[in-house]
Amino acid sequence: MTTTSLRAVDLIARKRDGGEVDPADLRAFVLAYARDELPDYQMAAFLMAGYLRGFTRRETEALTDAMVASGDRLDLGRLTGPTVDKHSTGGVADGTTLVVGPLAAALGLQMVKLSGRGLGHTGGTLDKLESIPGFRVGLGAGELLDQVERIGLAVAAQTADLVPADKAIYALRDVTATVGNTALIASSVMSKKLAGGAGCILLDVKAGSGAFMHETADAVELARLCVELGRAGGRRTAALVTDMDQPLGELVGNAVEVREAVEALRGERPGRFLDLCLTLTGHLAALAGAAADPEQGRRDAEQALRSGAGLERFRDFVAAQGGDPRVADDLSILPQAPVTREVEAPAGGWLEAVDAEEVGRVAAALGAGRQRKEDRIDPAVAVELDAKLGDRVEAGQPIGRILARDEAAARAAADGLLAALRWSERPGQAPPLVHEVVLG
Ligand code: URA
Repeated sequence: MTTTSLRAVDLIARKRDGGEVDPADLRAFVLAYARDELPDYQMAAFLMAGYLRGFTRRETEALTDAMVASGDRLDLGRLTGPTVDKHSTGGVADGTTLVVGPLAAALGLQMVKLSGRGLGHTGGTLDKLESIPGFRVGLGAGELLDQVERIGLAVAAQTADLVPADKAIYALRDVTATVGNTALIASSVMSKKLAGGAGCILLDVKAGSGAFMHETADAVELARLCVELGRAGGRRTAALVTDMDQPLGELVGNAVEVREAVEALRGERPGRFLDLCLTLTGHLAALAGAAADPEQGRRDAEQALRSGAGLERFRDFVAAQGGDPRVADDLSILPQAPVTREVEAPAGGWLEAVDAEEVGRVAAALGAGRQRKEDRIDPAVAVELDAKLGDRVEAGQPIGRILARDEAAARAAADGLLAALRWSERPGQAPPLVHEVVLG
């Protein structure tokens, strides 16, 4: 498609009227936008038309292909092992990469993970890793591949040259109320995964109060679409739809999430977080053909945890990226907040509901997250929530703590945390950790 405004108008009108846009035209439209040859208002009109009318499977594939084609792709051809990537759609206390990466590497997989930073109530893997003194996330492609070949794992910042169309379109969606469309989310996520080059892709699609998708059925639909796009792109792809009706781990912040990961790798912190990490690693191993099935993969991951091989890979990984590897043995080298405030249950009862998004916002307001891209984060501050859905507590029982810069911030965060919790006089059911598995 040439980018005369007439052709673009025709394409927008077709979508507005509920028709299907030809894949070649859609590709040209997206590529023109990425080259700055199409104005924001036409892309915005198209996105809104598609948001309201929906996108066909063919259109979603074309959108994904065009976004991949808009920039560089990482060529993993010189790596010798099975290459894997995992992606979470974003949640609270959801630092699984820090555990899954080392465990997968210990099983002989090669994980190349390009990550983003946290925005809003969700945390970002890069921010968490940067709380380790010296840790660098700006790796060039050559350095990234050398490291993966040597130790099986690298986590780096995604460069601006990878899927630039998604970057521009996502920014536009953010300000035109067009983020929450399954096809747009799936093409955005999968274009980045496909450009990342891994042969096997595992998606962890979150469902619940702290996730993009509050309803499990919507998350399952997104998971299925992502898996189809991965397969269409020639990758082995699977997805788990997992619970985000409460924070996954107990610690919400940056340095504290490194602490939780290290304690999990040492086998000192059993619970939902470690459970999901083992399950995800098992699925990755099965996808890559390193285990007969996800159950065997999980048993292998448990063995790598018990033997200390996972912790050893974590040490290698931190050292390779300039971080202080002593963090695996001495958590006191992580930044520490000056104020700790205990949070106590206001009354006896069962924990019935957690607004996980609000818990993420309380941590972000302390300084653990950013409201705007250019904000600096404070690695030391955090919210800790020990209580889980379905737990019974007594009045005055400690249920968590706040790590803050000063007393006033700690007090406000404690009030915010309590406001995010709902108690019941009757016992309730804890949600399952994994709602659904979508295999490719
Ligand atoms: N994450 C992405 O990368 N893209 C979306 O559209 C939503 C979440």
